Amino acid sequence: MRDILPPESARWRRFAEVFADVVERAGYGQLIPPLLEDLGVFTRIGDATEIVTKEMYDFVDKGDRHVALRPEVTASVCRSFAQHRPTVPWKIFYSGPNFRYEKPQRGRYRQFDQVGIEVLGVDDPYLDVEVIALAWEFYQRLGLQQLRLIVNSLGEPDDRAHYVDALRTHFEAAGDQLTEQSRATLERNPLRVLDSKREPDQAHIASAPQIGEFLSDDAAAHFADVCAGLDALAIPYAIEPKLVRGLDYYRRTIFEIQGGTLDSAQNALGGGGRYDGLVEALGGPATPGVGFALGVDRTLLACDDEGVFAPEPVELDAFVVDVTGGLQAVEITAALRAAGLAADRGYDNRSMKAQMKLANRSGARTAVIVGDDELAAGTVVVKPMQSGADQVTIPRDELVAHLSTHSDLSDTVTGTDTP
Ligand code: HAM
Repeated sequence: MRDILPPESARWRRFAEVFADVVERAGYGQLIPPLLEDLGVFTRIGDATEIVTKEMYDFVDKGDRHVALRPEVTASVCRSFAQHRPTVPWKIFYSGPNFRYEKPQRGRYRQFDQVGIEVLGVDDPYLDVEVIALAWEFYQRLGLQQLRLIVNSLGEPDDRAHYVDALRTHFEAAGDQLTEQSRATLERNPLRVLDSKREPDQAHIASAPQIGEFLSDDAAAHFADVCAGLDALAIPYAIEPKLVRGLDYYRRTIFEIQGGTLDSAQNALGGGGRYDGLVEALGGPATPGVGFALGVDRTLLACDDEGVFAPEPVELDAFVVDVTGGLQAVEITAALRAAGLAADRGYDNRSMKAQMKLANRSGARTAVIVGDDELAAGTVVVKPMQSGADQVTIPRDELVAHLSTHSDLSDTVTGTDTP
């Protein structure tokens, strides 16, 4: 777990704002579920899901309730739906922290943020297309280029069960040739053996049966429609028959967006899919669901690697330098801020030189300077810090208007009017 300091934290906020902008324009409203839920909400995700069985931050609270910090948000959204029974389609987005007791490394943390969407109550394959397209659009807005979208279908629960049986048979036949870790995974969840990156497993993974052979006609038709929709939107994707994803609740469509720069174990920037049985498992009516979550930490690492969506310095309109004791700076910064301008100041009545150094470092557009002469005359000096224009002395009560109209202050020299 780690601190996100300024200015990086401002980038995190902007990230969530851009995400909200993309999905709100598609009809999604924000759900803010609690970070802590009854343990049962997450155990419904399934007993072959490692984030539930091995990685959960769960504890008994002072009221003897067994609770857990959420390892993801989809289960909370379904719990919320089962509880409030909103009209469908329920189109929800969220952002915030999740907790998994994982082995920390670059791109993998014990507290990490996700943004995501979920839609409950619609079976339409073109909704899957909308969901995938929104993830894609968001990544385009960030400016990421090195992305790979992979999609697959896990079929209906029966298809998936037959496939799991076939995989178990296939991998059991490999016996000791499989790595010890994969043999252990095989006992818990044969699908996850397909995720192994270990060399000795690769030949057996390559020769394993593929889910496509097990899809029912309905599931195959649903998946064909999803692919046709992605084609219609010209979104580049690859069908990856070995994509299984780590959560038990998936049925039919699953997808992942991988970055080009992170280690392969951490290159999934986000993923999602359908989970048509989850609301029911949480005590609600049978309700289809589809959605995704994107990892904020990992996506920002990918942005760093690609040099896009950089942190933006805070833009100050004015840095107030008051060498008359500080009370003038109190009033002037308050007036500028009340007028909607961004203003900071020096403290502790330091020397002109020291305060000008701070003004410089702040990156402010102007320094607004008050010395004894200005105080006596009711004026201030406005010194442009970036345009190279000359400083001007103006009546103090014209300062707000002056800063608001002279957007870069260079016109104070050339005399041209600001349009
Ligand atoms: P997930 O694949 O477990 O899916 O997580 C989604 C994304 O969260 C990952 O691709 C990754 O970027 C990020 N993430 C996961 N664990 C960590 C970690 N320890 N450190 C940093 N980032 C991490 C879900 O959570 C599903 N709820 C997605 C979903 C929504 N499916 C349907 N609706």
